[in-house]
Amino acid sequence: MKKINVGIIGFGNVGSGVVKILQERNSLLSQKVGLGIQVKRISDIDLLSKRNVRIDKNILTKDALDIINDPQIDIVAELIGGIHPAKEYILGALKKGKNIVTANKALLALHGKELFASASDCGKNIYFEASVGAGIPIIKSLKEGLVANRFSNIYGIVNGTSNFILSQMSNNNCSFNEALKEAKAKGFAEKDPTLDIEGIDSAHKLVILTYLCFGKLISLDDVYIEGVSRISLADINYAKELNLCVKLLAIAKKDGDSLGARVHPTLIPNEHMLASVDEVNNAIYVSSDLAGNLLFYGPGAGQLSAASAVVSDIVDLTNDIKAGLFRSTLNIIPDKSIKRLSKIDEIQSRYYIRLMALDKPGVLAKISGILSKFGISIASVTQKERRKTQSVPIVMIIHEAKEKNLREALQIIDRLDIIKEKSVAIRMEKA
Ligand code: HSE
Repeated sequence: MKKINVGIIGFGNVGSGVVKILQERNSLLSQKVGLGIQVKRISDIDLLSKRNVRIDKNILTKDALDIINDPQIDIVAELIGGIHPAKEYILGALKKGKNIVTANKALLALHGKELFASASDCGKNIYFEASVGAGIPIIKSLKEGLVANRFSNIYGIVNGTSNFILSQMSNNNCSFNEALKEAKAKGFAEKDPTLDIEGIDSAHKLVILTYLCFGKLISLDDVYIEGVSRISLADINYAKELNLCVKLLAIAKKDGDSLGARVHPTLIPNEHMLASVDEVNNAIYVSSDLAGNLLFYGPGAGQLSAASAVVSDIVDLTNDIKAGLFRSTLNIIPDKSIKRLSKIDEIQSRYYIRLMALDKPGVLAKISGILSKFGISIASVTQKERRKTQSVPIVMIIHEAKEKNLREALQIIDRLDIIKEKSVAIRMEKA
């Protein structure tokens, strides 16, 4: 049986998972595609660490160029992550006539334009199923299964680490720092968790989802980004009393002729489908005009889950190679009704607001007076405690308001002498 040769750059957690699956499911995969799939070479700068897979040591190399320059290798899987040298490896491999599989969402979000253009120039494809939601087949579903649809919005819980932290805080009544410690102990959070907890990883994934749904390869700068690191246990608990829960949502939404992309903690009703997505799970909720509202749910990280997606890309490319034809699988057609990208200032949302105010007559009147000057209407208000000398939490839900107006009103409120801490405002989404 003719064989397709795969080169794997990066023999870490996902890389070794891919090798394991290609070994253990080799016969199944060969039967499915009618071609053998062989791992011909693996490169990694660290060849000493133990991996949970047995391989012939002769196929290992420290130098990725041994893979890129090997004329017998058909498919290169880039699994090292980061921007450099991953980008150079992919560009080099494309020029050498190889198809690419990558799980590298940061690289695609930041340099996708150049990489996809180069793939097209070279008559090759870049597949990236593992870049969003690990083993959840969201990329293929958007590209193929939903090809005839137009989309109006996407709501994604696409960062398992943040979702784990929020779930821990909510279920175990613990602080952000305690939850982060637990995430690190369980191996979910990196030593430096910035990309995850500050919403940047979610934004990378949102750039990719937005490209597939709306045909716009937006820049990361076009995404408003706010992570979970400033969410307090107090707000989670007050929200619970209102039958709401906090999720870090990556949202891309069409509104008339504009498209907005944002990542931020969001309050959703407990009955919302995304409310039950707990722990490290991911979920992507897509509104499409033909297939309706769809929810893609499952583990968004993990060795075999991510490797399952990489292997599916390798199998797809094997089928393409077998068919002997180049078909660009990224036939992105921009949604022409989108004329501009909107800024966060323009969104209309309901908000949860917490103020720390002195407990004395006239305080609420002052606050509501300022809100009303900006056309903001209060839906509910509760004072949480009673203290004579210190500030007390005042929790408000406000009716739909323009973000810009709310920000301006809160700036004025925060400067009042009756207000003792910076206000907290969390956007809300409906069920
Ligand atoms: N760091 C990511 C997360 C997993 O926490 O979801 C890989 O995309």
